[in-house]
Amino acid sequence: MAGKFTLLAVWTLALVNAECKHGSKFPSDFLLGASTAAYQIEGGWNADGKGQSMWDWYLHQQPDLVSDHTNGDVAADSYHLYKQDVALLKEMGAKSYRFSLSWTRILPNGTADYINPYGIIYYNNLINELLANDIVPFVTIYHWDLPIGFSNQGGWLTDEIVDKYADYARVVFAAFGDRVKHWITVNEPNIHCTFAYGYGLQPPLVKSPATGYYDCGRNLLLAHAKAYHIYNKEFRVLQRGKIGITVDHDWPMAASDSIDDIDATEDYQAFHLGQYLDPIFRGDYPHRMVDRVAAASLRQGYNSSRLRSFTEEQKDFIKGTTDFVGINHYSSNYVYRNASVVGMYEVPSFDDDAGYATFTNPSWPESASPSMAAYAPGFYDLLLYIKEAYGNPELYITENGFSETLSEDLYDDLKVDYLRTYLDALLDAKAAGSNVQGYFFWSLLDTFEWTFGYEIRFGLHQVDIDDPARPRTPRKSALVYKEIIRSGVIDYNYNPDPYLRTKVKINCTYNNICNK
Ligand code: BGC
Repeated sequence: MAGKFTLLAVWTLALVNAECKHGSKFPSDFLLGASTAAYQIEGGWNADGKGQSMWDWYLHQQPDLVSDHTNGDVAADSYHLYKQDVALLKEMGAKSYRFSLSWTRILPNGTADYINPYGIIYYNNLINELLANDIVPFVTIYHWDLPIGFSNQGGWLTDEIVDKYADYARVVFAAFGDRVKHWITVNEPNIHCTFAYGYGLQPPLVKSPATGYYDCGRNLLLAHAKAYHIYNKEFRVLQRGKIGITVDHDWPMAASDSIDDIDATEDYQAFHLGQYLDPIFRGDYPHRMVDRVAAASLRQGYNSSRLRSFTEEQKDFIKGTTDFVGINHYSSNYVYRNASVVGMYEVPSFDDDAGYATFTNPSWPESASPSMAAYAPGFYDLLLYIKEAYGNPELYITENGFSETLSEDLYDDLKVDYLRTYLDALLDAKAAGSNVQGYFFWSLLDTFEWTFGYEIRFGLHQVDIDDPARPRTPRKSALVYKEIIRSGVIDYNYNPDPYLRTKVKINCTYNNICNK
């Protein structure tokens, strides 16, 4: 933290010389790719025996959970159009692709007693198509689409879900592990628990900010660890892959140099990144998080802390369970704690326990997503923080991206700037010793952006969701990214015109026969 303001000064200077800076280049084995998730792109919600996830069920029951009343029933239709997705990756020169598996496409009831052969065929086809095109698959086992049956039984609030998840993980290791060498157990436990079990704004709409948020995170960590041990004991020797977890983290900066703001910033690190990485790297939750929740619980008359502690056995079980860390990073925040924060949050709640507030700098380019603004120096600081705090683990940026609202506009210049400056920051962090080995832009395509539906677009490729054929068209950002991947360098003068390129866009029929 201490060097942050010096780093900022150096960075500002560097930006001024952006066009000729560093001379650094992506090494040829650096995995530049793109990312998606099953519910957000696949569609085929009930195709070929797929069971329902909690997202399927809730959005059918309550369409107004989503601002534009859409859902993921068809989305980009990647269930049918996966070959087009791989063709787009190939066209960009992507070296890797991160996608997630739909639990209920593989296990329609959630349980491992019945495996849907069509689910296995679909992912086999996708994986084989990627490998045939020299694209490395990174597979997320769980990206929020819990089977509805388990969700109705209490989902991530119950201890039983850990074994159900572990059974599912075993099935997918056995089915795909001969070809998949990078597994991500869970996507963003923090965001998932915040919205699904804390605020109750995403399925299964459980509003439990005092305990549910913490119990969800605890069970996701135990599930992650269990999958890791299963992989270790039953598959690693034969399959020789790696397994890690993806956590989300925006970069926090103290809003002033007051002790309160600096302390609040440390608490932000503890409640976000530390909640997940500390048990994995250090064997327990961060002390400052444990202390704050225990003190608040005591004040509120609870007999014990609302943050259930791990037993010694559980601590040992979780510690050391990652071969790499996946980071999803979008933005930075200023953090403060003063009298105005008192009474800001519901009591009891995890927000109140943490006891700080955040804001983004109004001068940073704003995306279409709430509280997401572009500030690349924060990315650099985050990468070096992880290096120092967690012993420089093997690191993949499993998501990073910038959203806009104009789905029809192929000139996504803000996203282009974001991509360039964030990749520049990554190169700098790499030069400063970060063990970052790959980067996945979010997203390859316009996706179903959860409760924002299709109003918010993250895609390198535009998807026309009003057209049944779901045509994909490269935006300027896709062309810029392609050139970065080809040359290994970031050229701020390269200015391709996406409208000229649409004439040669990849055109595929519904049956995946593609022509250029
Ligand atoms: C999630 C994605 C989401 C993205 C942009 C991440 O929190 O993993 O599913 O689309 O952010 O909001």
